[in-house]
Amino acid sequence: MLGIALVAAVITTAVAVLIQWLPSSASEEMDRITFTYWFATIICIAIFSLVIGVIVYSVLAFRVQPDDDTDGPPIHGNTRLEVIWTVVPAILVIAIGIVSAVVLEKNADAGANPLRVKVFAQQFAWRFEYPGNVRSDELVLPLHRHVKFEMTSVDVIHSFWIPQMGQKQDVVPGIETEIVVTPTRTGTFTLICTELCGLGHATMRAPVRVLQEAAFSTWLSKERAAGGGAAGGAAGAGSTGGAPAGGATGGSTTATGGAEEALGSKTFASAGCGACHEFKKAGTDAQVGPSLDDLTAAAQKAGESVPDYVRESIEDPNKVVVAGYQPGVMPQNFKESLSSEEIDALVAYVGGEEAK
Ligand code: CUA
Repeated sequence: MLGIALVAAVITTAVAVLIQWLPSSASEEMDRITFTYWFATIICIAIFSLVIGVIVYSVLAFRVQPDDDTDGPPIHGNTRLEVIWTVVPAILVIAIGIVSAVVLEKNADAGANPLRVKVFAQQFAWRFEYPGNVRSDELVLPLHRHVKFEMTSVDVIHSFWIPQMGQKQDVVPGIETEIVVTPTRTGTFTLICTELCGLGHATMRAPVRVLQEAAFSTWLSKERAAGGGAAGGAAGAGSTGGAPAGGATGGSTTATGGAEEALGSKTFASAGCGACHEFKKAGTDAQVGPSLDDLTAAAQKAGESVPDYVRESIEDPNKVVVAGYQPGVMPQNFKESLSSEEIDALVAYVGGEEAK
């Protein structure tokens, strides 16, 4: 019986060890989560092997002979055995519960001085804000430092998940949820939305970069310098790929052509337009919504100029829905979530020259 159990243990252990079931860890939190998995898995392998051993042995040793029609012996329980198979699993389940509780507690601990990053989720994009009003579409994290994400959604429920970092947390409109991540290796990762949030859910991703502490500080101060004019909050601080020239002027109200083009391009990226729309100028090829490459025919059909049509489609997307597409898919809150400067720039960027 022990031999059969041993064979079962070897096979299941091989399946557990030889196949990489979890992504290789890149955070302290993921290390603890991985430990919890192994703790439970080892217990499972032991119990599974024992059960297989008993079952297979019983089938082989006690099977009925071909011409044996007699009844089996009447058995009325076995108190000692029943106590054992109740107490042992109870202890194991309690042990798993205690380990999980300790891991949950530790994984929620951000320490005394975490880096605080605000996370804004919306259909179908992520935006991040660092201390000092630095906004970014890319999540850049320092190595070996607790990062506390303070998250909220502007529309529906999303969920924050970087697979190699383990931690996963819903992002809910109206409340602020938190999660702590402490990166343990540099590299590039992907932040994935892991709550079905609409047609573009699968495209709702953001790049994550983990840098050495010094490189991170350099990045942050550079972004801060590029962002400048924090007073004009709506005008938007600098972000990755933003025009460095635009920063020095800060909260200018009369945007010049170049600055407006830059703001339009930035807004197109930060509002997540590219997650759903094909637009060659922005290098996007998503097919969730209609292509934005040639809007002349669609605008004509709606009886409007291209810029007017673009503006209406951003502010009131359900008014005209292109044939073959569903109403209610495009977020309907851009008029509130974007500033009027951002919408103007976006109209100019998408609607072409006529808009100016
Ligand atoms: Cu956001 Cu799925």
